[in-house]
Amino acid sequence: MNPDRYLVVGNPVSHSLSPRIHSLFAEQLGHDIEYDKTEVPLDGFNEFADRFAAAGGKGLNVTVPFKGDAWAYVQSLDELARGAGAVNTISFSAEGSHGYNTDGIGLVSDLRQRHQQTLRGKHIVILGAGGASRGVMAPLLEQSPRQLTVVNRTVQKARDLCRAFTAQAGDITVAGVSYAESVPQVDVIINATSSALSGATLPVNPQWVAGAFCYDMSYGANAAFSRWAAARGAAHSVDGLGMLVEQAAAAFAIWRGAAPDTNPVYGHLRREIDRELS
Ligand code: ATR
Repeated sequence: MNPDRYLVVGNPVSHSLSPRIHSLFAEQLGHDIEYDKTEVPLDGFNEFADRFAAAGGKGLNVTVPFKGDAWAYVQSLDELARGAGAVNTISFSAEGSHGYNTDGIGLVSDLRQRHQQTLRGKHIVILGAGGASRGVMAPLLEQSPRQLTVVNRTVQKARDLCRAFTAQAGDITVAGVSYAESVPQVDVIINATSSALSGATLPVNPQWVAGAFCYDMSYGANAAFSRWAAARGAAHSVDGLGMLVEQAAAAFAIWRGAAPDTNPVYGHLRREIDRELS
């Protein structure tokens, strides 16, 4: 029997670590799968997904800039994906296509398990108000922080994003602000902007990171915010490699019904990336 086929699609996608991660998971659990990457034309997501499904493909991971396209494409959505307005994992079955968003679960698992961060009662600051931020709002609110502040260059987008989650926030203070505003003492600060792609430095107030746990959703060479924060007195500063591995593990579990042990895979990639950076 041919192995089940999976793909990560994006544009660009050449640097994606997902094929490595999923191959390591499959090896660990003794699953026979084929996992590749494909760059899809910017206006070609639906056609590509249709063809992949018709050829018997079992699942897609979806990365920038197709998470919104994937959300609109699938026939049904899980609750987190519906709220996030973005899909990073599609599973194809006889019933059709089903969309999930495992990014927020991946972030929270990494924060709690790998980095031992308790979020209950904390003040969390998210930098950025795009798709990456939207995707993690609900899972972060589920952790019952005291306050969640979204900071964005275009402040209206931060306010709109917060408004979309007021019902779920309940007693949690949720506010969208600009980089120029003052915010109460920060416990956890998460970079969810795409600034690293353009090499820009975020106009973050250094007081926000001093003594805080700083998390960068970018990883490796792109984790400029985490390095900036480490040099400005962050209590701890990490990149987003763990989130990448954890969101992949959640996707693998959806597709294969088995949860891989993420630690050896994380350790393997961590050593490789650290070697490249040194
Ligand atoms: P993604 O899906 O990765 O979140 P996006 O929806 O394009 O991508 O959002 C990118 C986010 O990074 C936005 O919040 C953007 O701020 P604006 O809404 O003001 O554009 C933020 N961002 C990108 N480059 C930035 C920079 N140089 N300084 C500050 N914020 C930046």
